[in-house]
Amino acid sequence: MERTPETRAELPVLPVHVAIIMDGNGRWAQQRGLPRVMGHQKGTETVRVVKDTCLDLKIPYLTLYAFSRENWKRPKAEIEFLMNLLDRYLDSEMEGLAKEGVRFRTIGDLTSLHPRIQDKINALKARTERNTLLHLTLALNYGARQEILQAVKRFSKNALEAGSSAVDKINALDVKIFEQFLDTAGIPDPDLLIRTSGEMRLSNFLLWQCSYSEIYVSDKMWPDFGREDFVRALREFAERERRYGAVS
Ligand code: FPP
Repeated sequence: MERTPETRAELPVLPVHVAIIMDGNGRWAQQRGLPRVMGHQKGTETVRVVKDTCLDLKIPYLTLYAFSRENWKRPKAEIEFLMNLLDRYLDSEMEGLAKEGVRFRTIGDLTSLHPRIQDKINALKARTERNTLLHLTLALNYGARQEILQAVKRFSKNALEAGSSAVDKINALDVKIFEQFLDTAGIPDPDLLIRTSGEMRLSNFLLWQCSYSEIYVSDKMWPDFGREDFVRALREFAERERRYGAVS
């Protein structure tokens, strides 16, 4: 069911790919005298709202920064809470995502996650691999610098395996070829990068892929970021002029 069919007419230019740094969960909770983790819990509701809006507006790619490499530095109890939240999210969304036509994907190194969570992620990926309406990608244990290094290693191994033509492979390396070795291979670059909570940082998120993304920072904390806020960001995106280094 389309919740606000009029919105698409209001937005003549829509991004193909929206990437979001979901920030401000801890502050949202602290402002209410709640434990920080309550902000993460509330933040999963926003994940659903944004996913539903993408489906309604037919935005085909949504990537969410759910857990960074650096997030392991947080208190053990907060990490455990986040992992349990992810575990429950995977259980509760399995049926819905599959039926809604969402393809579930991840970027980042999953090997440090609990094997039970890895199994659920793999099951959800397999269950939804034929879906095409929305590619929902969660960045889990993700860091852009590590992703780029990993891509260099994958490329180098691939070139070495070519034996005597390894040097030819190295000389032929270009942006398009290199991108096939990134975790995001096959996913177009984000057109719009949103960060909530007013912070103006990239925080090791999609550094390669966001070279020409339009950046939108919302002052709202992630749990307060609603459909209207998302549509406001999309409206501003529609008004931006993208020049990719050329002149208008
Ligand atoms: C940043 O807020 C947010 C995170 C580190 C985790 C994001 C996780 C969620 C939105 C919920 C889980 C999502 C899924 C899909 C299960 P922060 O804690 O850094 O906030 P602060 O800057 O106010 O402290």
